[in-house]
Amino acid sequence: MSSNYKESFEQMKIAGSLAAKTLDEVTSYVVPGVTTNKLDKICYEYIKDNGAYSAPLFYRGFPKTCCTSTNHVVCHGIPSDKYLNEGDIINIDVTTIVNGWHGDTSRMFFVGDVSVKSKNLVATTYESMMNAISIIKSGISTGDIGENIQTYVEKKGFSVVRDFSGHGIGKIFHEPPNILHYGNKGEGIKLTPGMMFTVEPMINEGTYNTKILKDGWTAVTKDKSLSAQFEHTIGVTENGYEIFTQSQKKFYQPPYQT
Ligand code: MF3
Ligand code: CO
Ligand code: CO
Repeated sequence: MSSNYKESFEQMKIAGSLAAKTLDEVTSYVVPGVTTNKLDKICYEYIKDNGAYSAPLFYRGFPKTCCTSTNHVVCHGIPSDKYLNEGDIINIDVTTIVNGWHGDTSRMFFVGDVSVKSKNLVATTYESMMNAISIIKSGISTGDIGENIQTYVEKKGFSVVRDFSGHGIGKIFHEPPNILHYGNKGEGIKLTPGMMFTVEPMINEGTYNTKILKDGWTAVTKDKSLSAQFEHTIGVTENGYEIFTQSQKKFYQPPYQT
């Protein structure tokens, strides 16, 4: 596996870049007055037009193409006929399947103008993910990733969600190892070349506690404070890492110049 992981990395880059392109595509539609169903439809059509499939659609009964998680929704928000309002922040999470390989990525979006508090939370979340990805290489531990995120986020006065984690990914959507976004250096397992997983920290303005709504999917902050998330799918190399889900339009973090 580790000797010829380059072939799987090529496939993962194809799936990952389609997921990233789907987010690039939906970006200009994230405005006040749009419904999350409309955003879901744009993702659905774009993935279909590219000959691929959405992994979340019908996954364990999930009814939609993407997850849309607004304001105090932590993750797994279900697209609906609700309108977005000026000042909302929203995460859109897309997972594509191309030739059987999965590309999983999410970004935050600003709906019109948003508060300084929201901007700080979103920027901190993005930075926590990218800083942690930057330390990835063969030989470090999964716990080193979690420790890096937790230290950065708590220094800014925010908290790291415990109830959801990153995950191994490839031909299977979710598989070991679990990538915790908190913890201590040296914990977990050691990274080896060829490993592929997501880094997808969920960061709350208040406490890290979450609860699931009656729909069985939507995870929200228990204290109703804001939550933000970004996600990349990456592969471990001898000397570092490769990001499979990079934006081709440089839509890294909002505000995006569309
Ligand atoms: N894309 C999500 C993740 O990052 C999982 C969504 S599964 C769903 O792992 F069923 F909730 F859509
Ligand atoms: Co994921
Ligand atoms: Co995802």
